[in-house]
Amino acid sequence: MSIKILGTGSYLPENRVTNDDLAKLVETSDEWIASRTGIRERRIASFETTTYMAAKAGKRALKQADVCPDEIDMILVATLSGDHATPNTACQVQEIIGADKAVCMDLSAACSGFIFALNTANVYIESGLAKTVLVIGAESLSKLVDWKDRGTCVLFGDGAGAAVVTKGTGIYETVMGSNGSKGAVLTCGERKLSNLLVDTKQELEQIKMDGQEVFRFAVRTVPSCIRELLKKAGLCCEEIRYYLLHQANLRIIQSVAKRMKEPEEKFPVNVDLCGNTSSASIPILLDEWNRKGNLSQGDKIVLCGFGGGLTWGAILLEWESNK
Ligand code: UT7
Repeated sequence: MSIKILGTGSYLPENRVTNDDLAKLVETSDEWIASRTGIRERRIASFETTTYMAAKAGKRALKQADVCPDEIDMILVATLSGDHATPNTACQVQEIIGADKAVCMDLSAACSGFIFALNTANVYIESGLAKTVLVIGAESLSKLVDWKDRGTCVLFGDGAGAAVVTKGTGIYETVMGSNGSKGAVLTCGERKLSNLLVDTKQELEQIKMDGQEVFRFAVRTVPSCIRELLKKAGLCCEEIRYYLLHQANLRIIQSVAKRMKEPEEKFPVNVDLCGNTSSASIPILLDEWNRKGNLSQGDKIVLCGFGGGLTWGAILLEWESNK
């Protein structure tokens, strides 16, 4: 069983923030950020909420797919930065786009969120419970970042990406994993016990990360996850057209390419202009690559996310042209 991507869309906030802009805020430099991460600028929301960006990306994906909102029977939003605990982001997107028949839920798996959501869509489609699903990754991490912490504030950006999916005929394979015992290396948004029995000052916890530990996890886990995926699918590296990895750091992407003995050209990159947009990074990149006309009928592509949880996952799918 497989899914076909009928259309993709994305939205980036209007406001560009360069490394030089950040150097006015914390002790850093364009040279440090660019050489350690590959990031040169990122978009930061000035009026756009997570829901606003998710809905914009969703509408663009629907338009490209030529699918009406009332044909959507499920909306899945992967996010760790929704605007509310309830209503969830998916329900708010439903209201904006008018997808009245959709069942709507959010999914939280940090930077692996879009992979987990796409797999969830696949399972619902396979079971017959859904026919057409709008899958979105949307984040406004700028509201969760400690803008005094140079170790993290230079890394993240805001944005959203989306895909409309339905039953397909090509190859579809996946590998997913989680390791809760390593959760402490990347945390955000702790909601402490606070009630009539416990007097705790409630403050939203900002992003805290052991960068080196996450880096080591990424460069070890991503290649082994993709190798396992290819083995499951009975394919070799040479048969893969593109690897669309979560855009956390250019050095991670280069290291994965090297460890897999694959040319860097097979690894599209936009971390230089978007920074790390967590669950939104893969669908934003997918939309860019799709709209540039780089994906053709029958291309086998790998999508791979990794991050907080810890979580990781990869999907191999065969591109089916909608024309
Ligand atoms: O999407 C979720 C997954 N997240 C990731 O994949 C992130 C993975 N980790 C990374 O990308 C890298 O670890 C970072 C980019 C976060 C950090 O790069 P690094 O090469 O591991 O640097 P470091 O943390 O070892 O820091 C080296 C030095 C330190 O100074 P000292 O102790 O050597 O004097 C830091 O204080 O760089 C300093 N530093 C900075 N200097 C200038 C840390 N941040 C900055 C900064 N500007 N923004």
